Amino acid sequence: MTEKSIQEYDDDMNTLLEAVWGPGFASPGGTDEVDLYLQGIDLAGASVLDIGCGLGGLDVHLVKQHKVGKVTGIDIDPGLIRRCNRLAEKNGVSEQTEFVCVEPGPLPFADASFDAVTSKDSIIHIADKHGLAADIYRVLKPGGWFAASDWLAGYDGKPSPEMQAYLIAEGFDFGIASANTYRLAMEAAGFEDIEFVDRNEWYRDEARRERDQLRGALYDGLESRVGAEFLEHEIDVWDKMIVVLDQGLMRPTHLRCRKPG
Ligand SMILES: C[S@@+](CC[C@H](N)C(=O)[O-])C[C@H]1O[C@@H](n2cnc3c(N)ncnc32)[C@H](O)[C@@H]1O
Repeated sequence: MTEKSIQEYDDDMNTLLEAVWGPGFASPGGTDEVDLYLQGIDLAGASVLDIGCGLGGLDVHLVKQHKVGKVTGIDIDPGLIRRCNRLAEKNGVSEQTEFVCVEPGPLPFADASFDAVTSKDSIIHIADKHGLAADIYRVLKPGGWFAASDWLAGYDGKPSPEMQAYLIAEGFDFGIASANTYRLAMEAAGFEDIEFVDRNEWYRDEARRERDQLRGALYDGLESRVGAEFLEHEIDVWDKMIVVLDQGLMRPTHLRCRKPG
């Protein structure tokens, strides 16, 4: 079994994730999940920051379907930034998108730069939820939304042995936090209209379907591209994830809150 200390979005990982989650996505649910967590928020013409833009599918979708005026996607991986630029070009949205490679840490943008901030399943990688919430608040214009999805913990404190086994196999560091921690961070930053929508039940079924596809229809095609060892490792990750989803310890969640106008 391959053990990685930190989740790396290298070519093999991206090939596998896109096979399971669709082109441009390194997170589950694709554009349907994005549309759900953005439901009721009008982003037409808006300037939007996407934290952890990954493979760029969300950013293209924001321009094409939500008619966003300008998306700034940030990521810490220069290879992913190149992929985002290529995807934007292929989709004819280069004019409306900008992708910036950043160092982990404070957001490199002036106060009140964006109408909205989004992020899909990336904030799990950022341990300081209070620092991040305050920084998102700072870069938002008054009245601006933060609307995102993320992987949350269904517990506070130390992970159970099953959760620990999953986090290590996945290569996630221990930056995962509970809804309670996120809420406290958002409140301390000054946000209002804070809402969480728990997606555990949805993803419990979805993750089984994904794992079965990896073992079934996707197996041969992926084996020839990423190798059997890596593929078997990822199927093991999915098996471990299903255990912690069933135990309610892993809780994919939609988050939203607003900076007072
Ligand atoms: C699970 S992927 C999600 C990517 C994309 N949002 C999606 O839904 O397909 C997490 C992404 O967060 C990025 N990331 C990790 N730490 C980060 C940080 N401190 N700032 C910005 N991006 C970060 C990773 O490089 C990776 O691309």
